[in-house]
Amino acid sequence: MTPSPLLILISLVTALALTGCSEPKDTHPNQPVTKRKAVFKEILRTFEPLGQVVREREDYQPQAFLAGAKELDRLASHPWQFFTPDSNYPPTRAKTEVWDKPQEFKQAQEQFQAKIASLAKVAESGKIELIRPAFDEVEKSCKSCHQQFRGNGKK
Ligand code: HEC
Repeated sequence: MTPSPLLILISLVTALALTGCSEPKDTHPNQPVTKRKAVFKEILRTFEPLGQVVREREDYQPQAFLAGAKELDRLASHPWQFFTPDSNYPPTRAKTEVWDKPQEFKQAQEQFQAKIASLAKVAESGKIELIRPAFDEVEKSCKSCHQQFRGNGKK
């Protein structure tokens, strides 16, 4: 079946709207800001469904939960390599503290990775009552790092 002219028009308009909203192209070598944002989005995509289970909005399925926790564990070490010395440029929302307080930033990463490792470990037990507090700890470490190192993007 050939698509109707109306459908073609709609998809054209959508494509234009999407381009219009997109952020300026990242022209920096190796595109570190684009890359770390992409990893954080993937982290969020993996993290959110686990939250749904912990908050009892979705059924707890031990194998699926464990797979998600392991994926999160894998992703947890990925964003940091993209915070290179020359990567504080728009549209980053990272605060200058990332570069001014490298020790603290590193500590926040390590704490985060440790909390995720605990979550992945406890997910093996299949006991949601153990998983819940471990999940909350991970969430706290996202929030505390964002508070300290992520701003509103206006420099
Ligand atoms: C050690 C610090 C740290 C931890 C821990 C951390 N983040 Fe972030 N996150 C950041 C920073 C810094 C940015 C801003 C990156 C930028 O804009 O360059 C960010 C950005 C993001 C973004 C926005 C990406 C975009 O497209 O702009 C999302 C979503 C996100 N983080 C989710 C999470 C989630 C979910 C967790 C926990 C599971 C988490 N982060 C843990 C530091 C952290």
